[in-house]
Amino acid sequence: MSHLPDISELLVNQKLTLKEALIVINENTQGVCFVVDDDGKLAGVLTDGDIRNLMIKGATLDSLIAKVMNTAFVFLNINTPQNIIQESLTNVIRHIPLVDDNNIPVDYACFSRLHRTPIMQPLLNGNELAYLSDCIKTGWISSQGAYVKRFEKEFADYCGAKYAVAVSNGTVALHLALAALDIGPGDEVIVPDLTFAASINAIIYTGATPVVVDVDRVTWTISVDDIIKNITPRTKAIMPVHLYGHPCHMDEIMQIAEQHNLLVVEDCAEAIGSHYKGKHVGYHGDSSTYSFFGNKTITTGEGGMVFFKTQEAYEKAVVLRDHGMSKQKKYWHEYVGFNYRMTNLQGALGCAQLERINEFVESKQKLAKAYNAILSDLKCFELPPEEAWAKSGYWLYTAILNKNEDMSRDSLIEKMLKNGVETRPVFYPLHEMPPYKQYPTKSTFENSKFISKQGISFPSSVNITDDEIQNIKQALQTIVRSKELKTN
Ligand SMILES: Cc1ncc(COP(=O)(O)O)c(C=O)c1O
Repeated sequence: MSHLPDISELLVNQKLTLKEALIVINENTQGVCFVVDDDGKLAGVLTDGDIRNLMIKGATLDSLIAKVMNTAFVFLNINTPQNIIQESLTNVIRHIPLVDDNNIPVDYACFSRLHRTPIMQPLLNGNELAYLSDCIKTGWISSQGAYVKRFEKEFADYCGAKYAVAVSNGTVALHLALAALDIGPGDEVIVPDLTFAASINAIIYTGATPVVVDVDRVTWTISVDDIIKNITPRTKAIMPVHLYGHPCHMDEIMQIAEQHNLLVVEDCAEAIGSHYKGKHVGYHGDSSTYSFFGNKTITTGEGGMVFFKTQEAYEKAVVLRDHGMSKQKKYWHEYVGFNYRMTNLQGALGCAQLERINEFVESKQKLAKAYNAILSDLKCFELPPEEAWAKSGYWLYTAILNKNEDMSRDSLIEKMLKNGVETRPVFYPLHEMPPYKQYPTKSTFENSKFISKQGISFPSSVNITDDEIQNIKQALQTIVRSKELKTN
């Protein structure tokens, strides 16, 4: 994708000649220039076609723009919603100047600028359609059917796990894991401050009390020191979250768990394909959970999986997943259970996605290398962690914008969007949000607050194109090297 010129490369003063307008058009390669007056206010739009028409009607290269230009033109305010801008672009009006409240052009819209590189999109061009069609043709569309069992077995084999329970999403996977391990009212569960809210919500669903702790400055995952600081006689479990694909310090966590007789539930939602010391994440915990939401490394649309260490917990989870109904005696309920079953349609998608899991993980790791090279060059980012003992699955490539008075992460996000690139801030610290403020903690959250404020995630789809990466690189270079990041 050729680099789209900045607005400044499209501007021409109305006192200049048509020849000078043509030079601007020639250099910006867009076939258009925006005419401004001496105060920089927008006065007109001139395309190369307009100039041709003017010359047929008698204008010359030396004619003054102000004298001959057409003053009927389309422009929009910079704050116009994207959909309205999109609707205003046509085959005739291919470039629209975007002005501020003083009528000064500050940006422009065109079709190629409206192409947006999404933060994540699924790739479903393998056997997904064939397996889904099979479900529909055979009528096996709810939770009975061969694909669910096959997906459980194949995903467990991939991760090196023994007991697998497929469920309807990653949030209920966490809830089911905690419930099957008998975690409930009176118990405390230690959870990191930086994670998607589903981690803490699942703890709250059980009636247990979440204890939110800070994250490690290097790996951005749960801080081992802060776990120790927050253990009380009521602590029942630790929930390490392998944030953005980087594994937690599992040896240290397991050692603490052993010393204090605690359970460990690993939230691996973001860590499909991640390894800790050569083993898939999820290997250590009493239970580990996964999400197959549409933005995850492999997806079933919505979906999740729980692994257990013991057969006992596994069997309880299977019953809990299905309304707490006895396996031996139909409609006899042993527990207040849930309907957390995965459908055969989801299982079919999962089986098809699993066939390409190595390809997907490798492409994310390759993308991370490309981003590392781009961001290193810019010298204003801290790259995502990858400790010597870790292999990140790089679910979502995330870096930290260095703390610098002149730069704001949020204005970088805004500018990237104007260049057609969706980025995303790191999660808000849990402890700052209304539902979670009430829970006791001895942590002070220096690290989570910093990472949350400065962290930014970049598009990480497995099918991102080289052109898109090039566009992201150019947008970043232009933004970072200009003064536009300055907060004002
Ligand atoms: C760390 C973490 N845990 C749990 C979940 C919940 O998974 P789901 O969206 O499938 O419910 C997600 C994300 O979606 C997540 O990022």
